[in-house]
Amino acid sequence: MDRWHTIIEPFRIHAVEPIRLTTEQEREQALAAAGWNLFNIHADDVLVDLLTDSGTGAMSRDQWAAIQHGDESYAGSPSWYAFLDAVQALFPFRHVIPTHQGRAAEKILFSAIGGRGRVVPNNTHFDTTRANVEFTGAEAVDLVIPEGREPATLHPFKGNMDVTALEALLAARSDDVPVVFVTITNNSGGGQPVSLENLRAVGAVCERFGKPLFLDGCRFAENAWFIKAREPGQADRSVIDIVREIGSLADGMTMSAKKDGLANIGGWLAMNDDGLAERCRNLLILTEGFPTYGGLAGRDLEAIAQGLREVVDEDYLRYRIRSTAYLGDALDAAGIPLVKPIGGHAVYLDARALLPHIPPLAYPGQALAVELYRAGGIRGCEIGTVMFGVHPDGTEEPAAMDLVRLAIPRRTYTQSHIDYVIEVATDVARRASTLHGYRIERQPAQLRHFTARFAPLA
Ligand code: F0G
Repeated sequence: MDRWHTIIEPFRIHAVEPIRLTTEQEREQALAAAGWNLFNIHADDVLVDLLTDSGTGAMSRDQWAAIQHGDESYAGSPSWYAFLDAVQALFPFRHVIPTHQGRAAEKILFSAIGGRGRVVPNNTHFDTTRANVEFTGAEAVDLVIPEGREPATLHPFKGNMDVTALEALLAARSDDVPVVFVTITNNSGGGQPVSLENLRAVGAVCERFGKPLFLDGCRFAENAWFIKAREPGQADRSVIDIVREIGSLADGMTMSAKKDGLANIGGWLAMNDDGLAERCRNLLILTEGFPTYGGLAGRDLEAIAQGLREVVDEDYLRYRIRSTAYLGDALDAAGIPLVKPIGGHAVYLDARALLPHIPPLAYPGQALAVELYRAGGIRGCEIGTVMFGVHPDGTEEPAAMDLVRLAIPRRTYTQSHIDYVIEVATDVARRASTLHGYRIERQPAQLRHFTARFAPLA
């Protein structure tokens, strides 16, 4: 199996989508019109779109076929049972509540258990998770291990929760904590995995304090692959077996099927607690839909069910993790500072280290993301002070890191697309000292990175 070193995509291409190269001048015009916010760019003007790995992957032949089985019955659709079986085959929680995506699951859960005075610990909240916690008036606290905040520090499980810090928080404020979250993999911290050992330790602390442990499971299969590859004693286990153990350590989960569901839309909320499930289902009916479809069409439920069977395929996961590392290793070899080791779904460039002349409040991550687009039509995503710098009271300070995430859509781009990204990024890095910062001209109260408008600090 390991005799050949070429990374091989374990699929052939069956339908193609055209992409087109724009000129630098066209891209400069597009940027000005977009207020230098890459979320405002027309996707036709993007050549290689690494904005997100969420819902942007290619579905398989078998997923498209499953869509034809979609049954749109309002209640009790067979597509719902196919979805339920596929979810519970991996995560046997008593209650599975389908939602249109991950943040709908978060909104429902935190509406039920959040609120003023409450505090929710997580290794690192992703943007919508933090926003949904804070929207209820509760506080979102990130307790990743210290190595998880140091881009260049090597650690096999940089997504691990700081168990001592969690114990201290629970000792001080146990009554205020409705749930403990662990995000696998830790997206905001570089797509870094959490070890089984850490999950067990977090689970033991939760049990001691009588707190439920929930997973933010978006990239559970990638996390399980890292456990198999890196955690002592796990190499001979199947990924499915590891996933089941991960699930067995938790009391519930939120999930975006747009990641490791290999689907374009979908998600779920799951738990063992009957009373909490009833409250969540009532909220679901209010905004998402009846509990056997949530916010989804029957065909979406079928695509997810099939996707969940495919995502734990070990040939797929080997290709997935190695092809992400291919991009990261090449940029590393070119001397570009980045988060190491390379994460599962994305490469995270360390813009603060690459652009020391741009202070965090002039948004070095934004500067780098804009230049990658301007130079080569590559769209990445700032994960730094623009995304996380504003506190609920409106004050602003630098985020822990200023990163640019190059997220790899699943089964979508070939090695030549990635070679092009390497060429462009290497050129941009060579000219790093000529890049300039940005100021924000206009921004909303929450989740400003999606809609803010910027202006260059010439
Ligand atoms: N949790 C994590 C760790 C995520 O990465 C995301 C989405 C969500 C929750 C919310 O899920 O989008 O289905 O509502 N992350 C995407 C990204 C958007 O680009 O990383 P959703």
